[in-house]
Order: sequence, then C-alpha cells, then structure tokens
Amino acid sequence: MSTKDIVLALFEKNRGFFISGEQIASELNITRTAVWKAVKFLQKEGYEIKAVTNRGYCLDKDSDVLSVRGIRSHLNEKCAGLRPEVFVSVGSTNTLCRDKAELGEEEGYVAVAGAQTAGRGRRGRSFYSPADTGIYMSILLRPQGLSGDQVLGLTTMAAVAVSESIEAVSGKKAEIKWVNDIFVNGKKVCGILSEAMYEVPSGTLKSVIVGIGINAYAPKAGFPPEIAETAGCVFDKTEVGQKNRLAAEVLNRFMNYYDDPKSDAVYDEYRTRSLVIGKDVNVLKKDGSVKAHAIDIDRDCCLVVRYKDGTEEVLNSGEISIRL
Ligand code: BTN
Repeated sequence: MSTKDIVLALFEKNRGFFISGEQIASELNITRTAVWKAVKFLQKEGYEIKAVTNRGYCLDKDSDVLSVRGIRSHLNEKCAGLRPEVFVSVGSTNTLCRDKAELGEEEGYVAVAGAQTAGRGRRGRSFYSPADTGIYMSILLRPQGLSGDQVLGLTTMAAVAVSESIEAVSGKKAEIKWVNDIFVNGKKVCGILSEAMYEVPSGTLKSVIVGIGINAYAPKAGFPPEIAETAGCVFDKTEVGQKNRLAAEVLNRFMNYYDDPKSDAVYDEYRTRSLVIGKDVNVLKKDGSVKAHAIDIDRDCCLVVRYKDGTEEVLNSGEISIRL
C-alpha cells in the first residue's frame, strides 16, 4: 500500500473525527510532511478532508468518493484482468477510452470518473454528469469475431448488468426501457452508450467502448429543467462506499455475461425487465413519431411493434418514447 492509501485507511477508520497530523505521523510511522502530501493527494482525488489549525484533519463522514481501491475491493475473480482508473473529472470517459484504444490499450481498461465536462449521450446529445452525484464509466473491449450487429448485444449485457446491480446494492426494482435506459420508480437513472471502432478499409471490428452513466444521487441543486421530469437517482441518501460498490457490481456482472456471450441468461433477464412490452409507444422516425403497441422483444433484443393498421415492424435501432 502506498503512503496515501495507508493515510486514507486511517481516515476511513476515523471518519467524521479530527486527528492531528502529529498523531497520524506517529501512528503510521511517517513524517508530518508525508501526511500533509498524502492529504493533498487525497483532496485532489475528491476526498473531502477538512484541515483545521490545532485540530488536524477530518474526513467528511458522508462523502462517497470513487476510488480504484474501493472498486477493486468488491471485484470478483472474473474481473482480475480489469484495470480501472479513477478520475475526479474528465471530458468524457468514452472519449478517453477511445483515445487509449487508438494508442493500443488492451481490453479491460476501465475509465471511471466522478464528473464529466463533456459527457456524451446517444444521438449526439450531451449527458448531464455533475460532480458528487454519479458514476460515469467506460469499459474498453476488444471482442473477437463479433459483427457490427452483435455490438448491440454488449449494450444489452450492460443494461442487464446495471439493472441487476442497482437492485443488489439499493434494493430498488430496476427496469429497462428499450434499448438501453434503466429506470427506477419510473425515472431514468442510467444511460448507456456503446461505441465501436473498425479498421479501415477491412471493416474489422477493432474495439468497443461500453459507456455507462448512473445517477447515484440527486444533484444538490436538482436536475436541470430539461431533464427534471424524467431523471431520477438510485440512492435516497449518501452512504460511504456505495458508488464503489455499485461500480464494482456492474463490472462483476457485466464481465460474467461477457465471458459467456452465448448464454440465454442476458436475453431472458432483459425481456423480464422490459418496461415497454405490452405498452403503447411512440416510435420516433426521421419525419416524426408514429403510435404503436410494443408486442415483444425478440431473441436479438429487437423491439417488435404493431401499428394501428395491423402491420408489424422489428426495430433494431432508433428510439421510442413511452407514456409511463
Ligand atoms: C444516453 O442516455 O443517451 C447514453 C448516456 C451514456 C453516458 C455515459 S457516461 C460514461 C460514458 N461517457 C460518456 O461520455 N457517455 C457515457
């Protein structure tokens, strides 16, 4: 363990209480300068550590900070090859991962951020990613022998993994709005953006980035007006370590499915959790939206809809809006 990690462990044990620099130094057998440097590092990583003259340092009792150590402590053996890296803030974890992939980074790199300044959503939209509220992470994959169509399968795996993880960690029911939005209590708490890169001119799949954005907590000032009606969060109150546990749980479950892509488990779970089957939906087309009834989700996770005139369509991309 590095000095910083040892100091952090001591702070964790004394959360909410002040400990003097001298006390820390003597307990850990390090210099006070080393303590001061470790505190500076930790503060830079997002830990809320107060420094008060004559009292010492105190780690905020409620701050829930993402960390490599925290995430790793919950990862199982299937994730042994994963290399998570945690950032306080980045532009977009998908972009960061894509740049890494271009430079030859291997499968298993995971960029995790506590905030994004240019978070990206589907259809060129931005993804609201403020500090202290969410988990923004992207997994770099280099799947062998996968066609472009099958990339959708990875998004599906992520949607199922996130839903199951939310339930396991928060106890709340999580449902999936086709294709890849996760809802809790009728509000969107997670969006997924998978991006594939191909070799030119062969068209061979080089890498896939699976980007997952989860609203763990509600932003202090509330969600911005444009998403205030639709957005929700997973947890009602801040608890130390929850974000790390949820991030790790998602990785554990995702890698488990990724290891066995032919299993029916993902499809069965995806279908069971569907928020749209049996509902009236609006299918958004280029030239406006058309009313339809969602009948089923097929084996390729495409949405089967029936229009008013009785015709059916199998939708493999695009978007629907539904009345909840
Ligand atoms: C959507 O709802 O339209 C998809 C949102 C995907 C957001 C995640 S957050 C982590 C990763 N980095 C990004 O810039 N986007 C994805």
